[in-house]
Amino acid sequence: MSCVYDPSRVTLIDHPLVQHKLAIMRSVDTGTKQFRELVRELALFEGYEATRDFPLEDVAVTTPISETVCRRLSGRKVAIIPILRAGLGMVDGMLELVPSARVGHLGMYRDEVTHEPHEYYAKVPADIEQRICLVVDPMLATGGSSIDAIKYLRRQGVQDIRLLVLVAAPEGLAAVEQSDPQVRIFTCAIDERLNEDAYIVPGLGDAGDRIFGTK
Ligand code: PRP
Ligand code: URA
Repeated sequence: MSCVYDPSRVTLIDHPLVQHKLAIMRSVDTGTKQFRELVRELALFEGYEATRDFPLEDVAVTTPISETVCRRLSGRKVAIIPILRAGLGMVDGMLELVPSARVGHLGMYRDEVTHEPHEYYAKVPADIEQRICLVVDPMLATGGSSIDAIKYLRRQGVQDIRLLVLVAAPEGLAAVEQSDPQVRIFTCAIDERLNEDAYIVPGLGDAGDRIFGTK
């Protein structure tokens, strides 16, 4: 598996607070409640960067002192697309940033032996092709799940897709870039590699199990 990716297509969120929170998340000693809170908080930080170029328009505002012209979001519609299950952990943080966003769900699980993704659920807003889609999933390992999610959205006619993960493997970054020449990727960490079970090293283990306490 090639792990050569183009860094210019990847935004690494290396803010000190992000690195601090990620260090706590990675620890095997961090329990479910704190892990879940940290996923939500990191989604907020990452969403802040991923929405940095959202278009603005002028709006007249009367302050208690005078009239002025301010800037507000110019109404581009947004959809947050969590990849089930672990992506659900990032939704609340994203909705705090963009409360008017719609949420579409894509269900994928990795076969534990082949590591291939299997799609089991898809429900997205009817006007999805008009929306900026922020695909959220804490982990980008082989890239299989994200690639399938992005392909699904392209088939629905979505133009602007941004993939937000918390931890990425170089192999996954390369695979997503190769599969889709337009998608922009945001991550809080780029780790060393995948192990023989296609888990990210050092990673943080199974994100879904840690968010939902299923192991
Ligand atoms: C995890 C993770 C990603 C996927 C990443 O989900 O949340 O969706 O694996 O691996 P990949 O890049 O190799 O596809 P998992 O399949 O474990 O399902 P879960 O969220 O239901 O636990
Ligand atoms: N899925 C996870 O949750 N963690 C990994 O390291 C790889 C895939």
